[in-house]
Amino acid sequence: MLLLIACLTCWLIGCSREANNGAGNAPGVPPANDSSNQPAEKAPEPPPPDEIAKPEDFEIWLKQSPMRMKMRSMWIDCGLIVRFCTGGGQVDYDWLEASGEDIARKAASFADMWEIIRDQNRNMAAQAKKEDWFEARYASERVWSCCTDCHAENWSMHTRGFRANTIEAWLERGYSNPDAPSEGIQLSAPNNFLQIMFTMLRNLSTAITSIEQHNVEGVMTTTQVIHKIANEQVEVFRTIERHGRAIAEAASRNSTDDIKAHYITMTATCIQCHDKFVHGERKLMNPLPWKAPDEK
Ligand code: HEC
Ligand code: HEC
Repeated sequence: MLLLIACLTCWLIGCSREANNGAGNAPGVPPANDSSNQPAEKAPEPPPPDEIAKPEDFEIWLKQSPMRMKMRSMWIDCGLIVRFCTGGGQVDYDWLEASGEDIARKAASFADMWEIIRDQNRNMAAQAKKEDWFEARYASERVWSCCTDCHAENWSMHTRGFRANTIEAWLERGYSNPDAPSEGIQLSAPNNFLQIMFTMLRNLSTAITSIEQHNVEGVMTTTQVIHKIANEQVEVFRTIERHGRAIAEAASRNSTDDIKAHYITMTATCIQCHDKFVHGERKLMNPLPWKAPDEK
């Protein structure tokens, strides 16, 4: 019993220490400020060929979630923007521009995915209203295929059920090996985020049933729910895209004027979205505040 309590305390202390470190850390030193006095860079040694494909490595890369990776890059981009604009040193405008542009591009790719879903969903409602049930059913398939596009791009392979032994079996006996072991879907996103996914799934399947029953009202109510979710995502990511691009444009004119205002509105959008999807103990990393190094 005592041991158990000791373990728990350890774990709790460990956790809070981790949290503190996370909150206080500034992003890595930007390359520009110290590139001048760096010795000529030596290319890193590539790993010997037999070390490239190890089962332990498979476990690691299978678990990488592209969505989380995109979020992490945007977080680093944000850190660099603050560092360049408030750091007082020389500004590397190329990296500043690239950071804004990187955020804009990543946000745009999310917005594009949601926009297609929103528009196909709207089309499904319009066809049902005209009682063109064939076209409505076709549109519902388009919606689902757009959902799958985003899943293919943003889920980790682990979420999709691939394991190290799946890859090993593919390598050993050919990638089409039908006996390669794999597992069911294993989710890792925050609960509240998954909640909007399950809500969309529920409403999409009810919409399809309603189409089969030629029930206009049923399609209208369900497509409205999907519209609300998709449209909100489009707006959120377009906002981030717009401000990211404005930061990049200022940097391309070698100016940091106005960047503060864009940064603050942009990151408020990230934070609002995180607040919405945060659940329980897991905190999503919010972008760093606009702050000079000596500011408290
Ligand atoms: C921005 C990309 C994106 C879009 C667009 C998207 N999803 Fe998802 N979806 C995700 C992510 C990320 C997860 C969680 C993966 C994890 O937990 O590892 C997820 C998980 C799910 C799950 C849980 C897994 C499962 O299959 O049981 C369902 C259901 C789901 N989404 C339904 C939908 C539906 C329906 C749509 C379209 C109307 C949709 N999603 C659109 C990214 C997206
Ligand atoms: C759609 C709402 C939404 C917006 C907008 C958003 N995020 Fe996120 N963010 C999420 C969700 C959901 C997760 C958790 C993803 C997961 O664990 O699968 C996340 C996770 C993260 C993480 C943690 C990744 C990890 O290692 O677990 C970081 C860092 C992050 N976001 C940064 C940002 C930044 C910076 C912005 C703005 C430029 C931003 N996010 C905008 C929803 C959002």
